[in-house]
Amino acid sequence: METVVSGIRPTGNLHLGNYFGAVKSFLRMQDEYNCFFFIADWHSLTTHPHPDNIRNSVKTILSEYLACGIDPEKATIYIQSDVPEVVELYLYLNMNAGIGELMRTASFKDKARQQLHISREGCEGDVEKEIFNEGNKHSVSAGLLTYPTLMAADIIIHKALKVPVGKDQENMEMARRFARRFNSTYGVDFFPEPASFHLGDKSVKVPGLDGSGKMGKSEGNAIYLIDDEKTIKKKVMKAVSDAGPTEPNSVKPEPIANLFTMMEIVSEKETYDFFNEKYNNCEIRYGDMKKQLAEDINKFCAPIRERILDMAANTEYLDKVARMGAEKARESASKTLNEVRQIIGFRPY
Ligand code: TYM
Repeated sequence: METVVSGIRPTGNLHLGNYFGAVKSFLRMQDEYNCFFFIADWHSLTTHPHPDNIRNSVKTILSEYLACGIDPEKATIYIQSDVPEVVELYLYLNMNAGIGELMRTASFKDKARQQLHISREGCEGDVEKEIFNEGNKHSVSAGLLTYPTLMAADIIIHKALKVPVGKDQENMEMARRFARRFNSTYGVDFFPEPASFHLGDKSVKVPGLDGSGKMGKSEGNAIYLIDDEKTIKKKVMKAVSDAGPTEPNSVKPEPIANLFTMMEIVSEKETYDFFNEKYNNCEIRYGDMKKQLAEDINKFCAPIRERILDMAANTEYLDKVARMGAEKARESASKTLNEVRQIIGFRPY
């Protein structure tokens, strides 16, 4: 059976982007593959080095994984920091990862820019220059720089082939590269090359409803699975729209295209077609469309929301799931790590 690995950082509640970009695939895959789904708590330290309460944040994601339907009997659900083998592999991968290639990754530049408070418009070279500025020398961490090697270690520690992630995950190419590099450095054919996986024929990007870009926790535009009906309605009614098209079959401007993309994701096809036709005939009333969208999002979230509350209250069960997952994940990880140690020339444990 092929192995699947994916993780989510515990930096807040799960939102619709996480669900439709990743968790929906997890649910399909858990029946057919050897799945490892984890909570990337070490990764969250790259942007939240002093988390308020990391145990609680992890518990939140664990409850939400289970509430969405990830089944601990089918998939191994674990907390990244329960599997120390990952760190040792991360160290080996870092020995063969170039500072230059890590600094050039788009997600590093983006996050470094945020941490240095440089606007996106700043020219390319600015990030690198600023990082080395005397006043900034502690601002951007080596942890952030090596995010892609830790992510690669997460994946290849279980020799995964498929990684279900949303469209925003640019680091997958690095994971493939580091797997290949290990093999070529040590002259082995040990790690398979993992590939991103998505349901359907293209990867998903759930848009924000605030005009442009994706939905995200740090973008401040997320609709969370745990949001109640009133909150969902408030968020959706606030979505950016315009005065409507004046020519039939006009191209949709980005904020409008985003509204439609969201509707395509959560609503019935007939609902989408109905509003799309209204748009094409210049008869669209965005107020009606948003009301319908809010209703459909609520219909989708309501049962998950209820299960989240039940799960979160059952601390004993959550502990049991985490313990069981840690054991299974460590078994798989230590098997790989023992072989890695021997390939490099160290004694196996
Ligand atoms: P994180 O926590 O940022 O996101 C978790 C998952 O949610 C997806 N996602 C989206 N998909 C579509 N549209 C959106 N608006 C949207 N927002 C989030 C992400 O693509 C992701 O699949 N680097 C990872 C965590 C990680 C990981 C790994 C993933 C660490 N190690 C190993 C896979 C394998 C991350 O940033 O997750």
